[in-house]
This record gives sequence, C-alpha cells and structure tokens, in this order.
Amino acid sequence: MDMDKWWKRSIFYEIYISSFCDSNNDGIGDLRGITSKLGYLKSLGIDGIWLTPYYKSPKVDNGYDIEDYYEINPDYGTMDDFDELLREAHKRNIKIIADLVLNHTSDKHKWFVESKASKDSQKRDWYIWKDKPNNWESFFSGSAWEYDEPTKQYYYHAFAKEQVDLNWSNSQVKKAMLDVVKFWLDKGIDGFRLDVINFLKVNDSFADNPSDENGEQQHIYDKDQAGIIQVIQELRDVVEQYDDRFLVGEVGSDNIETIKEYIGDTCLDAAFNFNLGSIEKFDVKRIFTELKLMEEKLDGQLPTLFFSSHDMPRYISRFGGETMDEERAKCVAVLMLTARGIPFIYYGDEIGMRDYVAESIACMRDIQGVLAYEKAIGNGKSYSEALIIANQRCRDKSRSPMQWDASEYAGFSTAKPWMEVHISRSVINVENQLIDGNSIFNHYKQLISIREKHKSLLYGVYEKLDMQENAIYFVRKYESEEVLVIINFGISELEFSIEKYQGFKFVYSNIRESLDLSKSTIRVMSNESIIMTKEV
Ligand code: GLC
Repeated sequence: MDMDKWWKRSIFYEIYISSFCDSNNDGIGDLRGITSKLGYLKSLGIDGIWLTPYYKSPKVDNGYDIEDYYEINPDYGTMDDFDELLREAHKRNIKIIADLVLNHTSDKHKWFVESKASKDSQKRDWYIWKDKPNNWESFFSGSAWEYDEPTKQYYYHAFAKEQVDLNWSNSQVKKAMLDVVKFWLDKGIDGFRLDVINFLKVNDSFADNPSDENGEQQHIYDKDQAGIIQVIQELRDVVEQYDDRFLVGEVGSDNIETIKEYIGDTCLDAAFNFNLGSIEKFDVKRIFTELKLMEEKLDGQLPTLFFSSHDMPRYISRFGGETMDEERAKCVAVLMLTARGIPFIYYGDEIGMRDYVAESIACMRDIQGVLAYEKAIGNGKSYSEALIIANQRCRDKSRSPMQWDASEYAGFSTAKPWMEVHISRSVINVENQLIDGNSIFNHYKQLISIREKHKSLLYGVYEKLDMQENAIYFVRKYESEEVLVIINFGISELEFSIEKYQGFKFVYSNIRESLDLSKSTIRVMSNESIIMTKEV
C-alpha cells in the first residue's frame, strides 16, 4: 500500500456549512465563519475538512440541489471567501474536500430550464424524460416521476422533484461535469466527496422495481447500474492529472461486495459504509462484524470510520438518548480514531452535541421531514401524529447550529439562526468543553494526538481483531511498533489477560490516569477503553 498518500493518515471533519459559524450575522453559517474557526479545528487536530455543498442553490435540500456549479451560494459568501478559506486551511496543513453532486441538478439550473422548455430542446436529453412513468419511488417520498404539463412528459428525480436526475448516458453531460471537476481541481481543492455516486445511471430497460414481502420497494433498477464504474474511472483519469487528490464516494448499499466494486486505484479511494456508520441502535456485535467484514472484503483498501453525518441522527443520541453515558461516547471515539480506516468526525460530535427535535412544523427545515409531514397529513393523520412521523424522517436532528458558547444563539451568530439552536447549549458548548480536561472534546484531542504519534495507528494492519464478552479489542502493528486497544462496551467489568502483551506500556484510558500492569490480567471497567503500546 502506498503509505505516502495524505488521506491514508488523515482524519476528516464534516462541516454542514449552514450550521457551523456565521461571520456576517445573517443567521446562516458561511465560509468566512469556517475560516475564523480553523484555529479551533487545528487544535482539535484534524487533517481534512469535508465541506457540504457551497454552490449556488435554491437550497430546497440545503445545497444538494445545485443551480450553478461555478458559483458560490451568496448565503455562504463569495469566491474570494472560498479562495481565502482554502488558502488559510492549506497554511495550517488542513486539506479541503468538496461535496459534489453529479447525479442531479436543481430544477432551477439553466440546463434543466432549457431541457424543460420543449421536447426539441438541445438539452432535452440531458435529463431523463418519459411519456409514462414506471413504479420507481423517490428516496424521499412518493413517485420518482414528475409530470410536466406543457411538454406532456415526466422527468425522473431520485430525490425531491426539485432535484432532477441528469442523464449520464449523454456524453455532453459527462463532458460538462468533468469540466466542473477540473474547475475546482484547478482552484486547488484536495478532492471530492461524491454525493449518491452509485445512483448515477439507471437501467435502460426502465423495468418496474420489485417489492419485498413488506411491500417495500427494492431499488434494483435505479442504482448500482452498469456503466457507473466506467464514468467514475473517467473522472478518476481527470483527477489523476492533478497530484494527490482524494475521492470518497457515498455508496448507499447494504452490500459490502457492492461497495468494494467502487474502490480501487482507478476508481474511488474510499467509500462510506453505512452498514457500520448508520447502525440504528448500539450493537457491539454488529459493529465488530462490520469491522471484520470490511477487513475481509475490501482487499486491503481502507474503510471509512464514522457514526454520524448530516443525514442521520448523531451517534450520541442514537446510541444512548439523553442519558448517553459520556464515557461510552468516548469509547465510540476511541474506536473511530484507533481502528483501521479513515475517520470522519461530524461537526459537534467532538463536544457531545445531541439531536435536535423540531417542536412544530414551522421549526422543521429538512425537505425530507416536510415531505413526510405532508404525506402523513394527506393520509389523514392529525397534526401531532404527522409531526411525530415527520420527526422520524427529518434530518434536522444533526443539523442544529454549532454550540460555541452558552449565549442565546450559542455563539454561532448574533442573529436568529436559520434553524433553532439546541436547548442544551447552556451546558454543552465549546467554551465549557475546552476548560474541562475530561471533556469529550479533550478526549478526541488526546486520541487524535495519540494516533498521530503511533504509526501502527496510522498504517498498521490488524495482528488481531477480536471480541471478549462485550469488548472489542485489537492489536495493530507497523514496523517495530505494536498497539493494543481494548474497548469495553459491556455493562460489566472485563477481566482481560495481558500475558500475551508483555512489555506493553499504558498510554490511554478514558477513565484513569494509570494502570497496574504487574499482574497477568487487567480489569477493564464498563465503558472504558485502554490503549497500550510496545516498541519491539
Ligand atoms: C446525499 C446527501 C443528502 C442529500 C441526498 C440527495 O445522500 O448526503 O443530504 O439529501 O444525497 O442529494
């Protein structure tokens, strides 16, 4: 494996731009806000930032509906602000990767406006038009087809109707998008997070999707289709003309074999595995099984390690609710930052932010939540029932403004933020976390610095990856160094034999300062993680 590639030893930090830091006090986070917090990110120790879409957009899906790939959304600033952010990040040795939505554009994009204008439009074939819809369902809600009265045809949208799927079988579309890719690479962006990349093409047959025994549609013909990998390879060829850029893809699949197909030297560098990242409930055996599977099935390629994102509830709330044991949250961080893979920290997780729940439909911002609400009302549900249903789908949970301090708007802005600040801001905020030596933030920071100092945590393979009771433990080795990590997610203490680990020294525990290594066993407490190393 080529160890020199920066992304192989990097920790990424996902920033949901609207909610991170507002520099001009209009209530919406922006690029200059991020620049002003680079010092904070540097002190945490991250190496790369994943920026959610910053392009011009009507923001029906908060930027995942792009109107112009060459312009910055004025809510987020200007091109100068973008250049400054990139420059300032690079000065601090922080890379930036951009979220790029290739699958669809906004319905306001000039390509679609032209395509829609008439059946004879030169751009008609840039999108997917049909006289009759099939049964394909949108991943958000309802049919994936929208009728256009003037031209009497339906267009295809895998997500909201304002996010129109491009026709990637049209070579002009491909060329136009590769030009976009080159534009941002020329600007110096360090790579891309490719949005829903395995949706890029649909099956030419347009055959109906089958349903499973529960009546749920099986997305057989509208994702992972032939020809997608070739497109990615062409994109890769473009990226290869620039040195050292990184491609990570969002590959929504519950099959690791499918995910694997997208990764490799001529394809994506890495892909998100939601089977691990988005597990609904905390399940140590499931986590362990996924770690093992990724080792077995990814042919040595690096997995990604994450448990939160802008599309799912925060892991702290998901795994433990309001009563989540902070030590357990730290243990999840230990796993993310010491297992083999590329960690992606989601903004706010490092201070223990919790899920936000909208108390009224007026407070709800996410299109998915709003669509679910409308559907429920359409199905005759009452307001309060519909609100509950909507909140289940709503992705606002993990998108509330970053909690910098205890003030009314959490130090995120001096104006009323675009979405409500979480009520916990008075207790859970960066200011408090920095002061408290034992805070989640300070544990993240310490773990990141331990990772940096130990090559086996950056490059080491697993000598062992196993479970004992409800603990996951592993040994990673690189050259003359070995690291042993024991993470006890169990509710009871674990007696762990260290006979095989003679000569290992204590490096870290989230619970104590030192450890007696003179006996043949150690007692690992509930929700305790221990890291030990040895130089051979
Ligand atoms: C990806 C994004 C999500 C967006 C969807 C459609 O899954 O992460 O936020 O809604 O694509 O673009």
